[in-house]
Amino acid sequence: MRLLFAGILVSFTCSLYAQTSSPYHYAIQKKKVVANGAVVSAHPLASRAGLTILQKGGNAVDAAIATQLALAVVYPAAGNIGGGGFMVAHLADGRNIALDFREKAPAAATRDMYLDASGNARTDLSQNGHLAAGVPGTIAGIFAELKYARLPMSTLIAPAIDLAENGFAITAAEAHSLNAAQSSFKKYNTVGPVFIKEESWKAGDTLIQKDLAKTLRLIRDKGAAGFYEGETARLILEEMQRGKGIITAADLAGYQAKEREATVFPYKQYSIVTMPLPSSGGVILQQMMKMAEELPLKSYGFESPKAVHLMAEAERLAYADRAKYLGDRDYYAVPVKTLTSKAYLHERMSLIQPDKAGASKDIQAGVLSPASEETTHLNVCDRQGNAVSITTTLNGGYGNKVVVGGAGFFLNNEMDDFSIKPGVPNMYGAVGAEANAIAPGKRMLSSMTPTLVLDKGKVFIIAGTPGGTTITTSVFQTLIDILEFNMTTEDAVNKPKFHHQWLPDEIFVETGFPIEVREALQKMGYTITQRGSIGRTEVIKISGGKIEAVGDSRGDDAAEGY
Ligand code: DON
Repeated sequence: MRLLFAGILVSFTCSLYAQTSSPYHYAIQKKKVVANGAVVSAHPLASRAGLTILQKGGNAVDAAIATQLALAVVYPAAGNIGGGGFMVAHLADGRNIALDFREKAPAAATRDMYLDASGNARTDLSQNGHLAAGVPGTIAGIFAELKYARLPMSTLIAPAIDLAENGFAITAAEAHSLNAAQSSFKKYNTVGPVFIKEESWKAGDTLIQKDLAKTLRLIRDKGAAGFYEGETARLILEEMQRGKGIITAADLAGYQAKEREATVFPYKQYSIVTMPLPSSGGVILQQMMKMAEELPLKSYGFESPKAVHLMAEAERLAYADRAKYLGDRDYYAVPVKTLTSKAYLHERMSLIQPDKAGASKDIQAGVLSPASEETTHLNVCDRQGNAVSITTTLNGGYGNKVVVGGAGFFLNNEMDDFSIKPGVPNMYGAVGAEANAIAPGKRMLSSMTPTLVLDKGKVFIIAGTPGGTTITTSVFQTLIDILEFNMTTEDAVNKPKFHHQWLPDEIFVETGFPIEVREALQKMGYTITQRGSIGRTEVIKISGGKIEAVGDSRGDDAAEGY
């Protein structure tokens, strides 16, 4: 009752003050159609920060940095400086950029660190508290992004500092999410953070984060060293000592973001640009899209049982390979070339039966010949033709739930994205093996799939979403919805999604997925499980000189532009 009331209050406040946007009274715009540049992210104040930078003459990378930093303040469940992520960008000069700022395992991490004396997996330790944290990559990533920006960091970080220092009004969704996490915050923190409140949080409450503002100022003044060395590093190390974590000064000082070769593959007349390993996103999006390319999906139509069946089977096959073969390529020889080859994918597709559900117990990862080898997304485009797609994460909502004492930011619980024991599902139900086993310095496998679609070399679609293992299937469906089913951008974002990840052997469907399609799929032999929201997809589509930015209705996501 109380929450419902809070929800009404915020929407009333938002519409009342729609014209006078400030951190205390702001509107959530789901769609913006503009001519020059646009930003779409999980929070209206973060999108607004990016827009301000575009209007000051910043390019898409400048605006993405400002948005990313603002998200770390206004969306603490997933926006972060204590986590990691990936950026995929297409620059106006034609270059494709893939930047990996994924967390890495601390040097003291060991393969079996989450097994007890009897060999049982301790997912409680990989998912919450100090031991769950990987070495954060976000700030190194932001400074690597800065290479492609125009404006100084002091300008780009200013909106975030302001929002942390002077506060902002939280939305109903944020109040709900903070209230739901209170007992975890109390359990895992060694120093009480500002996020703990004795009475419930409600929509419209002001959240002020002085410690975070101080940390952001250190980053502004000292660069990445303001995080990985000096005062902030000291506070992280003291936090580790208090909570028996294992991140050391050398882990922090040694962290580096890595530029990777973007995964680029053709789909019909388009070129798809996406993230390579250590995100599984690129490999399995390519597998699913290349399988889909040969299927008459368009003639079956959106949400037809036949189209859902074939797409779910493509998802099943790709996720079976993910479990066995995918991991950090710097540590494990992943046969990417073979997994994405035409011959291999044809062989895999021959396992799909036209009108009958497959069975995951009968589908294993492909056999390769030995010779071959709470997350958040934002999109930005500018008037010069630069486009940026960034997915960043703490893994679970509020990461490991630990705020670094005195530094004001949450640490991630990304260690759970490793396969902590072969066959034991992580918090998204993903299983893995040797390829994704823990090793010191190794980056844990991700599903994050920041993606661009180019049409004749020009950016056509910018897309991405949070959602754990559902990320790649959601990006897959969003692209198919636009490219094959000619769906509007809003529908591609908001219509119910479905998800198959090989194990468990079922199709998860979002609330609102048509009942008759469910029944038709059940008749084919599928187990269907209804679940809550799948992802929070952000899309920008650029065509005919028009930029259309759409934020997902599943959250507070908001579009801005000019
Ligand atoms: O990297 C990954 O795949 C996960 N850590 C992402 C987690 C996520 O999307 C949570 N948000 N809903």
